[in-house]
Amino acid sequence: MGLNLLTICYLVASVTFILGLKMLSNPVSARRGNLIAAAGMLVAIIGTIFLYRNTETGEHLHNYAWIFGGLAIGGIIGTMAARKVKMTAMPEMVSLFNGMGGACAALISLVEFNHLSKELSLNNSSEFVSSIQPTVLIIVLGLIIGSVSFAGSMIAWGKLNGKVKDFSFTGQNILNLIILAVALGAGAYLVIHPAHSFLLYGILALALMYGVLFVMPIGGADMPVVISLLNSFTGVAAACGGFLYDNKVMLTGGILVGAAGTLLTILMCKAMNRSLINVLVGSFGGSSSSAATTGGKDQGHYKEISLNDAATIMSYANKVMIVPGYGLAVAQAQHACHELEKVLTEKGVEVNYAIHPVAGRMPGHMNVLLAEADVSYEKLEEMEQANEEFKTTDVVLILGANDVVNPAAKNDPASPIYGMPILEVELAKNIIVNKRSMKPGYAGIENDLFFQPKTSMLFGDAKKVLQDLLAEIKNV
Ligand code: TAP
Repeated sequence: MGLNLLTICYLVASVTFILGLKMLSNPVSARRGNLIAAAGMLVAIIGTIFLYRNTETGEHLHNYAWIFGGLAIGGIIGTMAARKVKMTAMPEMVSLFNGMGGACAALISLVEFNHLSKELSLNNSSEFVSSIQPTVLIIVLGLIIGSVSFAGSMIAWGKLNGKVKDFSFTGQNILNLIILAVALGAGAYLVIHPAHSFLLYGILALALMYGVLFVMPIGGADMPVVISLLNSFTGVAAACGGFLYDNKVMLTGGILVGAAGTLLTILMCKAMNRSLINVLVGSFGGSSSSAATTGGKDQGHYKEISLNDAATIMSYANKVMIVPGYGLAVAQAQHACHELEKVLTEKGVEVNYAIHPVAGRMPGHMNVLLAEADVSYEKLEEMEQANEEFKTTDVVLILGANDVVNPAAKNDPASPIYGMPILEVELAKNIIVNKRSMKPGYAGIENDLFFQPKTSMLFGDAKKVLQDLLAEIKNV
């Protein structure tokens, strides 16, 4: 009975994971999807704690103090971290939590190999050895993938919060490949000869080393892609745990995370027009500075616009398109931005938002930010649609965006972002750019758009500028 009920719990949980994931693909249903999947996870955890029985001994779990102690500590830390985290620090937190998942998968492998080793010391017959070989294979895979994900995610976390700097040396990619090959070779040997248990710790050390070295040289602007890739690794490592324990819900959850992470990685690479190999070994946005930063060619002059003039041209426009970027998130200006949209709409201006797929620092960053301020989803236009609309737009207001509107992506083959699809804002009649200075964005490159005759700069913190602009517009 217990086992049947547990199977039903797992089935319910698996269905909620799939439903939740599906609902995450639309901003309207995303919040509910997340809650549904979390509820399913709760069902799976509670079900396992109280209904699981060992198939051989028939025993229930009994180490409740450890289980609930761990749940309480993890639950408190997770809740506090999620409440405190700023939108701009989300990729860091995703990376940290993802690393914990990888570490769990690696620890499961260590614990389970230990159990097997004990059994092996009592019975080392060739029949027994061949019967445990598939399990050892799963253990080794879980250990390698989980450790790479843990070590890589920790480095990614350090890089995103500025504590770890990019680091590379000649021949690093070759060394990485050698380390990976030795780890896999040692893993294969251990599967064939499981009695050589010391090898497991060597494999662990090599996998951790590989995780560190593989993420170390990757440039800052590519970190979200790497985090997504590491996320898919953690999913696969968790699925290994599912195989190991014959636990269907762990298997389903792991496979879903692995597949979703892989798809997201591919989509992000596509949105930046970069291959995954290029992201992994290309060192973009790190130390590279080809056509980059301020020192290069003379960009000419830029012109500034006063708040009053900006308010006037926006108030008398037929159509305004707002382009949000990372700076909007930094300034926490989403509410002021929505207010501006409402005031302009009341004046009869058509206002929409142009959303670039990699605007900000993580997928969907701008959608989540604007949703927080209750901006209607119907007002958000994806890149292709927005690029059609710019031709008939009177004013484009760029709020803290830079790389995603940089025409070098189209015009300058020497630029590191050449080929990345961009919002073609220069098609509009007027462009107003709000940022605090002439400093470059995340990719560290100059932006010709700021020097074009149609463009005017409106300097200042996005929130302050929007509040002042609102006051001016109300007086027009
Ligand atoms: P960025 O190119 O980073 O530009 C943001 C701009 O905001 C900066 O130039 C900065 O200029 C300005 N800013 C900062 N704080 C501000 C504030 N308080 N008020 C007003 N402006 C402020 O951002 P983007 O255009 O959104 O492009 C995203 C970048 O991230 C791209 O390079 C993209 O490839 C990369 N990336 C994103 C993802 C995902 S999934 N989103 C993944 C990988 C890479 P000042 O310092 O002069 O103010």
